[in-house]
Amino acid sequence: MGGLVTATDFLVTTPLPDPGMRLLEAAGTVTVAENGLSHGELVDACTSGNHRVVVAQLRDEFDAPLLNRARITGISNFAVGYNNIDIAAATSNAIVVGNTPGVLTDATADIAVLLMLAVARRCVEADAFVRAGKFHGWQPQLLLGHDVSGKTLGLAGFGRIARATARRALAFGMTVAFCPRPPGDREVSEAELGEFAGKVRHVSWPELVATSDYLSVHVPLNAQTRHLVDAAVLHAMKPSAILINTARGPIVDERALVAALRDGTIAGAGLDVYENEPRLAPGLAELPNTVLLPHVGSATVPVRAEMARRCAENAIAMARRELPPYPVNPEALAR
Ligand code: GLV
Repeated sequence: MGGLVTATDFLVTTPLPDPGMRLLEAAGTVTVAENGLSHGELVDACTSGNHRVVVAQLRDEFDAPLLNRARITGISNFAVGYNNIDIAAATSNAIVVGNTPGVLTDATADIAVLLMLAVARRCVEADAFVRAGKFHGWQPQLLLGHDVSGKTLGLAGFGRIARATARRALAFGMTVAFCPRPPGDREVSEAELGEFAGKVRHVSWPELVATSDYLSVHVPLNAQTRHLVDAAVLHAMKPSAILINTARGPIVDERALVAALRDGTIAGAGLDVYENEPRLAPGLAELPNTVLLPHVGSATVPVRAEMARRCAENAIAMARRELPPYPVNPEALAR
């Protein structure tokens, strides 16, 4: 904690890629916690009165007890998601929250499709097979997988990343269905459907679960979506189905998923996020019918640079008590 005592405009809990740090340093004084902060250290830093704005990561948990005591004006989250922050508590304490929407849509949809293809075509198993020196020539039955063309992709959610995934799946000749707000539903107007009118089917959550060959999760994590995919949903899926999760780990009951993958309730899973990140549910890593990535949905050089720029711009506006360009709770400014 010694390094965090100096009063600065910005407390950066993990250094940002370029140009993030440069923008912050040009705008004010910066404290960087090079090795991240424990929750206790984060609480101490936020309540010390030494920092105006926290530039935060998804692993920094801003719960109501912290926010009620915090003496900061803003939290600029280096992510599009903000499930690590109690937004109602931030707003009632006049703490503005910002995120980085828009820039990581295509990169994350790419990872959803990559996972779908990698599980379907057993890419990781096949790579390991070659590297282990087991490839002795073409064989008619070697590493047979599943098709994607002609199959149905079910999208849980119909936001930016789901739509970018739909665009890609249609190009692969897949049938695309979606449920916009599972486990419930909501109206989707022709205007919202836009380019997808006549190309994708809006179905109920039970129908999506029962009919998808690939079920891909694209909803925010909240009280309604925690364990959206539980044992009952996994049992309602086709035994040949493959689950893809690039959204948030706790949307899937990971222990139930391990059981379902083990006993053939479903055929496979491609995951970029985990219920208790960075820990994996017991048994998950041993399953050959999974492809497991370390939360890299937005991990391209240009995307992370643009996220860093937006994150810094949000933080700079917050330090000046101005509306940030990408606010989550603009109403907090009026308090
Ligand atoms: C990553 O998971 C993000 O929310 O940006």
